[in-house]
Amino acid sequence: MTINDAYNKGKKLLQQSNIVNPSLESEILLLHVLNIDKKQFILYRKQSKIPFLKLLKFLFLIKKRQKGKNLFHLIKKVNFYGLDLIVDKNVLIPRPETEELVEILLKKMDQNKKYSILEIGTGSGCIPAVIAKNHGNIRIDAIEKNKKALKIAKKNLQLHYIGNQKVNLLNIDIFKFNSSKKYDIIISNPPYIASDETKILLKNKTVSDPYISLNGGTDGLDFYRLFKNICIKNLNKRGFMIFEHGMGQRSKILEIFNDEIFNIEFYNDMSDIDRVIIVKRKL
Ligand SMILES: C[S@@+](CC[C@H](N)C(=O)[O-])C[C@H]1O[C@@H](n2cnc3c(N)ncnc32)[C@H](O)[C@@H]1O
Repeated sequence: MTINDAYNKGKKLLQQSNIVNPSLESEILLLHVLNIDKKQFILYRKQSKIPFLKLLKFLFLIKKRQKGKNLFHLIKKVNFYGLDLIVDKNVLIPRPETEELVEILLKKMDQNKKYSILEIGTGSGCIPAVIAKNHGNIRIDAIEKNKKALKIAKKNLQLHYIGNQKVNLLNIDIFKFNSSKKYDIIISNPPYIASDETKILLKNKTVSDPYISLNGGTDGLDFYRLFKNICIKNLNKRGFMIFEHGMGQRSKILEIFNDEIFNIEFYNDMSDIDRVIIVKRKL
């Protein structure tokens, strides 16, 4: 059987199980099993035979995917803003929307300035890893409540040779954070789904991320109420906070951040959904 035959077989099986993008997923799993890149796949797929054991492994992964296992949990990695990162069931799989959050932040940063940064809810460590790779003069305190996620973040920082003088991982529950340290930038992609909705999404296997990474409390807004206090206590006078939020939450978050104290900017994502807010203290 050629690599192309295996690809088509995988695609057909995924199609039968109503996977939304069977061709892409068959390709991703095949590249993973063969440890080749897309260019090699295109060049050799028609003439090269797939080794039997690799074919078995590929079909094994396809079967797991058909049973509903998350694609990224199967290959245990994801690409986030150009960086390959390790992921597992203990971390939220980094999303393209968060790449947009990081993109907005990087555009705001001046390469000649030094920044002290606080990141809240680091998960896989995707956000500090990308900032550290794209700015030479930063010091990030990255907070995470879930110890198992923090282990993955540590692995990802090691994978990309990012030392703790640049990114300091801290096992802290942000609701118990009582530091008065001031930061130039505070960034977060917090849990923002209402508790009841989170339970339904997980039950229906619409998502397969940890509950703690999704649950934003009764109305999904617990973290934003806390962020207001953190901005008052921990932001440098000329600093700013930037964070992601869920669809339709913009107006509710604007109500939380009383505009007599804060200047507010907001952004939509590539699908034109309200997604990112930046707040600054009025001077
Ligand atoms: C939506 S995920 C974001 C993960 C990662 N920053 C990303 O963008 O892919 C939110 C993260 O916040 C963490 N978290 C939840 N509650 C927390 C708390 N009280 N204190 C600190 N971190 C918390 C979760 O474990 C999870 O890793």
